[in-house]
Amino acid sequence: MSHNQSVATTVRTAPTWPLRPSWRRTVLVLHIVSAGAWLGIDVIVGVLVLTGWFAGSPGTRSLAYQALAESVVWPMLTAGLVCLATGLILGLGTKWGLLRYWWVAVKLALNLVLCTLIVVVLQPGMDAVAEYGRDLLTGPVDDSRVSTLFFPPAVSLTTLTLATTLAVVKPWGRIKRSADGWRGSPEP
Ligand code: HEM
Repeated sequence: MSHNQSVATTVRTAPTWPLRPSWRRTVLVLHIVSAGAWLGIDVIVGVLVLTGWFAGSPGTRSLAYQALAESVVWPMLTAGLVCLATGLILGLGTKWGLLRYWWVAVKLALNLVLCTLIVVVLQPGMDAVAEYGRDLLTGPVDDSRVSTLFFPPAVSLTTLTLATTLAVVKPWGRIKRSADGWRGSPEP
């Protein structure tokens, strides 16, 4: 095969993906920044939960629980949804697909589960956490009202660390070959 023929073949068969390289880079930056923000907010939640439980003075504990109740859920959900939306764009717009590779499909499931937990479990309990924080200033309170608050940051941080590891390692290969039979380039 001559050089020209080989170039023509390469041009004809090279797959094209909806997301142009410059857009892919922009969306990927947003994706990584939102994932980082989400992890950071989880760290803040962890620090507030630990401060609320272990701090010496009732004033500090009260402040930690009230700050937790009033300021973290919506930023956390926003970061999670931006991460989801940019992940969907990256999946649909590149060779990775949404349900083509295990590492992407599992991240999609983890992202959906975490966002659902924020809306269904975390947010509805925040009024009670704020109330507990206020009650701390007025007298003895029952600690069991906030004892399960350790779980959300622990579960979320573990899951997001797993998702980040999946994104970097990209394990387990393809779920199945795509209908057009394209086998893709070697895994990065
Ligand atoms: C659960 C939270 C998530 C975290 C922490 C996360 C993290 C990351 C990170 C760090 C990268 C960069 C990896 C690299 O360049 O080597 C990445 C890339 C990627 N993520 Fe996510 N991700 C999450 C959710 C999602 C979701 C829900 C999807 C799809 C629906 C998705 C799809 C992708 C794709 C396709 C890439 C590769 C983009 C490319 O190189 O063109 N991610 N993710």
